[in-house]
Amino acid sequence: MQDQYRREINYLRISLTDRCNLRCIYCMPAEGVEKQHHRDILSLEEIAEIAEAAVELGINKIRLTGGEPLTRLGVTWLIKRLSALPGVREIGMTTNGILLPKMAQELKDAGLTRVNISLDTLDAARYRQITRCGTLADALAGIEAAERVGLTPIKLNAVLIGGFNDCEIPAMVELTREKPIEMRFIELMPIGDTDIFGPEAYIPVDTVLERAPELQPLPDGAPGAVAKLFALPGAKGRVGLISPISHSFCSSCNRIRLTADGFLKPCLHSSREIPLRGLHGDELRRTFAYAIGQKPEEHNVLSRTERSDAARNMHEIGG
Ligand code: GTP
Ligand code: 5AD
Ligand code: SF4
Repeated sequence: MQDQYRREINYLRISLTDRCNLRCIYCMPAEGVEKQHHRDILSLEEIAEIAEAAVELGINKIRLTGGEPLTRLGVTWLIKRLSALPGVREIGMTTNGILLPKMAQELKDAGLTRVNISLDTLDAARYRQITRCGTLADALAGIEAAERVGLTPIKLNAVLIGGFNDCEIPAMVELTREKPIEMRFIELMPIGDTDIFGPEAYIPVDTVLERAPELQPLPDGAPGAVAKLFALPGAKGRVGLISPISHSFCSSCNRIRLTADGFLKPCLHSSREIPLRGLHGDELRRTFAYAIGQKPEEHNVLSRTERSDAARNMHEIGG
């Protein structure tokens, strides 16, 4: 359905859990997080019921997020349920990839279409530093597993952090020469209580074009897609630049988010949330449609010093 600014809202992002098997420093605060209690999060049945109502209102693309969605027990069952909904053309997942070697095949068989995998660095020591506890080889094995079972096309998400991984831009862009992946660079967003970065960390994604001047622009991707696309001449893959800070993409926003504890977020960067728990049938559909109607025209300007109004950390929203 359309919102009041005539944007077609067809993309639902469902956060399955706020828990994660990594602790990325831009996503979780250093002191750790209080986990949501099991009884406070939606059951998989409740999620399926909400998704069904959403599909009746015109949602045709669903993305499962977290925390880390693969840590939620029953995720495969949920994907089976969602893929049986008539009108769903794509079920994606944004994951850190760590559990993919074990789970990729069952996810594919259940109907998952493709995965976006977080990969901020190709250096094992830096990977440990940014994730606080992860092992690069595990993430790389996850990417291989996704390729092997056909959870493709794969997009790799790197949050660009000045002074940390910007020196790896050429090597990461180079990955696209031989592999049919989309390597995406995302501007660091000042969200939640993860304010440990100095001013040098916030660099625009245009830095990628300076460091990899061979990149050529490609036509825009699907409507509502957040990445501007580029490619190396003759490369099998492509590069995506996501610029929530330097250019917002509100005017073509097509998405709405469901949190694991049952609230719809009409906008990533707003504290506005609409509770869905306990609603069924017409009331559920009406409230979902109301939330779409509450999408703001745009979010506040973000910068290093002007933080997101989202009242949660990223691991509770899922990006
Ligand atoms: P595709 O289906 O492959 O297009 O996935 P996606 O780009 O929608 O999903 P993904 O989870 O890979 O998100 C990539 C990055 O874009 C993450 O860092 C998100 O936080 C960021 N992002 C996604 N949606 C929005 C949005 O509405 N606003 C802003 N500012 N950032 C967003
Ligand atoms: N800024 C930009 N991107 C972020 N992500 C998580 N936290 C932030 C942040 N503060 C990204 C992750 C993942 C996606 C869901 O969101 O790297 O790829
Ligand atoms: Fe976990 Fe993803 Fe957050 Fe890293 S960015 S802590 S992998 S949810």
